[in-house]
Amino acid sequence: MTLYEVLLRPLLFRLSPDRAHELAHWVLRPKLPWQVLAAISGMKDGNLPVDCSYAGVRLNNPVGLAAGFDKNCELLDSLSELGFGFLTVGTVMPDPRFGNPFPRLVRYEETEGIADSMGVPGKGRAYAVARLKEFDKRRRIPLFCNIGGFSAQEIAQGFFDVEPYVDAVEISLMCPNVVKPEDFNPVKLLGELIALIEKRRKPATVRVPNDVATSEALLGELIEVAVRGGIAGIKVAGGQPVTEPGLGTGRGTLHGRPTAALATENLERAVRLAGGRLSIKSNGGIFSSDDVRSRLAAGADCVDIYSAFIYRGWTVARDINRGL
Ligand SMILES: Cc1cc2nc3c(=O)[nH]c(=O)nc-3n(C[C@H](O)[C@H](O)[C@H](O)COP(=O)(O)O)c2cc1C
Repeated sequence: MTLYEVLLRPLLFRLSPDRAHELAHWVLRPKLPWQVLAAISGMKDGNLPVDCSYAGVRLNNPVGLAAGFDKNCELLDSLSELGFGFLTVGTVMPDPRFGNPFPRLVRYEETEGIADSMGVPGKGRAYAVARLKEFDKRRRIPLFCNIGGFSAQEIAQGFFDVEPYVDAVEISLMCPNVVKPEDFNPVKLLGELIALIEKRRKPATVRVPNDVATSEALLGELIEVAVRGGIAGIKVAGGQPVTEPGLGTGRGTLHGRPTAALATENLERAVRLAGGRLSIKSNGGIFSSDDVRSRLAAGADCVDIYSAFIYRGWTVARDINRGL
C-alpha cells in the first residue's frame, strides 16, 4: 500500500468524486511541488530502456495517462513529472462546454470502478491550443491530444490547430456520453475526416468508440477505413454503458477494473482484425504491471490508464514500470 492509499485516499474519497476531481486538478496546477516529489521519489524510474512506440511515436515507457483527465491541457508540467511514458490530453472540443448536469462521477470502491457522465466539459479549443503552445517550449514527454467535434469539419479544424504542438493527434469519433443522433455512423465520419486531414504532418490515431470495439463487423469496417486512410494507430478500450441513479443524467459509462475483461476481448479482436497494419493502444481496467504485461502479450503496443490514477495515486506509473 502506498502513502496515498493509506493516508490520502481515505480523505479524498470522503469528498464526492466530482469534488475530488476538482481538488486533484487544483493540487496538480503548480509544477514545483511535483518536480521536488519526482526528484525524491524516483518518479522517472519509469523511463525504461526499452524500444517502445505507438503510431510511430517513440514513448518513454508503455504506460501513458489516458484522455479525459486533463481536458484543457493545463496540468502538463506536473503530469510530465509523474513517470508516465506519454500523456494523452483532451478531449478538446471546438467551443467551451458546460457538460452534463452534476453529479457526473460515481465511484465503486469495492470493485475499483468509476461511472462517468461528464459529457466532455471544457474551456474550448482556443484555450487548450494556447496551453499546448505555451508548454511546447518545455516539452520533453511524448504528447498526444485527443480532439472531438460534432462534424468531420470541426474535428479536422481541431486536428490542424493542435498538430504543431503534439507528437500525434487522437481523434475521438464522438464521446459516448453525448446522446447520439439516430443515424450517427462513426465509420462514415472517419472516412469523411480522413479526406479532410490529407495534408496532415503528424500521425493520426483513432479512439475506437466503445460500441464499435465490441462489434466484429463495425470494428472490421473501421479498421479497413483507417488502414486505407493512413491512420497510424487505434485506441481500443472496454467502457460499458451503465445505468446509475447517482449520476445527474441517470446513466453513463463504466470504466476501471470491472471493464478489464471486455477491454482485453476488444483488444484481441482489434489485433486479429488489424493484422499488424495499425499500432494498437489498449486501456480499460489496467492497474498493475501484470495487467500491462498481459495487454502487451495480447498485441497492444502500449496502454494508458485513468481509473488506476484515481485509486492508486500519483506514483501509479512509477510503480507499474518498476514492476515491468
Ligand atoms: C472521468 C473520466 C473522464 C473521461 N473523459 C474522457 C474524454 O474526455 N475523452 C476520452 O477520449 N476518454 C475519456 N475517458 C476515458 C478514458 O480515457 C479511458 O479510456 C477509460 O477511463 C478507461 O481506462 P481506465 O479503466 O484506466 O479508467 C474518461 C474517463 C473517465 C473515468
